Order: sequence, then C-alpha cells, then structure tokens
Amino acid sequence: MTGLIARWRERLPVSSSTPVITLGEGGTPLVRADRLARAAGLPEGSIHLKIEGANPTGSFKDRGMTLAISKALEAGSTGVLCASTGNTSASAAAYAARAGLRCVVFLPKGKVAAGKLSQAVMHGAEIVEVSGNFDQALAMAVESAKSCGFVLVNSSNPFRIEGQKTAAFEIVEQLGRAPDNQFMPVGNAGNITAHWKGYQECGVAPRMFGWQAAGAAPLVKGKPVANPATVATAIRIGRPVSWAQALLARDESGGAIDSVTDSEILAAYRLLAREEGIFCEPSSAASVAGLLKLAKSRQAPQGTSVCVLTGHGLKDPGITSRYTPKIRRVKAGRSVKL
Ligand code: F0G
Repeated sequence: MTGLIARWRERLPVSSSTPVITLGEGGTPLVRADRLARAAGLPEGSIHLKIEGANPTGSFKDRGMTLAISKALEAGSTGVLCASTGNTSASAAAYAARAGLRCVVFLPKGKVAAGKLSQAVMHGAEIVEVSGNFDQALAMAVESAKSCGFVLVNSSNPFRIEGQKTAAFEIVEQLGRAPDNQFMPVGNAGNITAHWKGYQECGVAPRMFGWQAAGAAPLVKGKPVANPATVATAIRIGRPVSWAQALLARDESGGAIDSVTDSEILAAYRLLAREEGIFCEPSSAASVAGLLKLAKSRQAPQGTSVCVLTGHGLKDPGITSRYTPKIRRVKAGRSVKL
C-alpha cells in the first residue's frame, strides 16, 4: 500500500484498527537548485527544494489530512470541518470524499485562489463563505465544531501535525543527513511546528527559518494583525494558532522568523518558474524569497539549505495575469520565424 501512513506507520499514532484513507501522499521530490544557488551567491549543491505541490491535491496539507481524516473515521465521526485560505479545504474535501464523510469549509470571501476553490467544489464540500478574514472564519469553524460534533481538521488537530512531520523524515532520508537550514512560509504556523517535531524525532536540529508576508506578519511584529494583507493569500493570517510552537521551533533551533515583501515573494516565484522550471504558488515562494534576503545580508546561510515549496502554482492561476506573455498570432499553416 502507498501513502505516508503505510510508510511511517511505526512513527505515527495509528493501530491495526485505524481505517487508512490515503491518496498516495508523501514521497515528494527533493530537487537540487543550482541556478537558485548561483542567484543567491551560494555554492552549487547547497540548496534543495522540497516540492510539496507534488502531493495528490497539490499541497503539503495532504500529509496531515490522511491522518486527520483516518482518525476522524476511526473515532466514528460523520463529518469534518475547517476554515481555510484554500489548501486545507481542498485537501479536507478530497480526503473526506474518499472516506464518505461530510465536509464543511469556512472560506474568507474573495481571498481563496481559483484552483483551490474549484477543488472544494468538485469534491463536494459544503462551502460557508465568510465576509471576513481567515482568523474570523477559523473562530466560526471552532464554534461550529463544538456545536455539531464534527471533527475540526485545521492544524490545531494534533493528527495534522503528526502527519506533516513526515516531511522532515523524508528530507533527512533524501539528503542522507539533516540540512543545516530549512526555509519555509509561515501562516497559521502548523507546518513549522510539524517539521520541527519531525526533525527532533530524527535527533537532528536544522536552523528553522520561517517567513511571513510583510503585510501579514504577526510573529515578526509580536502582536496579532487585525487586517492581514498580501498577494500570498495562503498565508494571509493575522493570528496564528500555533504561535507559541513556532517561536519554540525558532528559538530551539537557533533560527529566525522574519518577513518578506510581496514584491520579494513574486520575484522568487518568477525566478523559480523561469530558472528552475518549478511552478509553486506565491506563498510557497516566500521560503525562497527569505533565503535570497538572508543571502544578500551579512547572515548568508552556511551549509546545506532546504526550501519547502508548500503548494503547486496551478492553485493560483489568477496571479499569472500579472505577467504578459509574448504571443505571436498567426494563421494556421503559415511558417513562423523564430
Ligand atoms: N503554504 C501554503 C501553500 C499554505 O496553504 C499554507 C497554509 C502555508 C504555506 C502556511 O502553513 O499555516 O501551517 O503555517 N494554508 C492554510 C490553509 C492556512 O487554510 O490552507 P501554516
């Protein structure tokens, strides 16, 4: 059987009576990025990209969702719910469909990228559109879970963290050792918590560098942001649930949590697509934007760095309309001079 529960069973909270709901998640590529290394002024072979967009629904959320949905089913639940900036809802909808569970998703109105919304629609999720931001939608989802008894599958669900920690196991296995530094985007801060837990369970401690968008950087500012704003809608979050755990990962690993501007995020997004052939969504590119920012400063990362690219570029096709392609328009059959 494929999937990360089968692969890492002895390191996950499952038993022989847990029904396993899998779409074959995990086992994503770790790709060397020498052109990026050159752009950062770092040695060839020093940067690797973990392509989490290669998961079945196109984001790292599937790692947590295979476990959260399997455990919800084991507990006898008939439905799950979540609030989401898009990827959690896409993943929850897919795994719930496969498990035969109802799935209710609370989405901030107008702020969910088109690809993610279409996934929730096609997998049959019941959509609640909240005229407010993610933080407000999450508060509503938490209340609804209490009153209706459905399982909340946001990253406050400990099974989400358990599933997502397997990305760290894979990185250590694929590199043959731990990286010296890891770079990743931070929104609700579940994933940095999960990766750090995974590394700790491997007995290793890369420096954890988390990156928030400048307009949605509560962990950097040290206080919640009431009206978060960024082009990177996946991390448009002003009050992260795993706040304390993220700071712990930062401090225990000797890393940092800092911010990158939207234009730095989009520059990294474009560079990855143009120079490395990797199409990730803008939020994912925050990890690379952060690495480039550090590399330009006096604190250039030493040793091997892994940047986690959390979601696929096809999730957010709307953003590509900012880039005007060069198109030649010709009649069929005419020769085209290149
Ligand atoms: N990258 C992507 C593509 C995401 O979708 C998210 C979070 C993050 C990074 C940040 O991860 O929240 O664990 O710090 N997306 C959530 C969602 C909030 O609803 O899909 P985090």
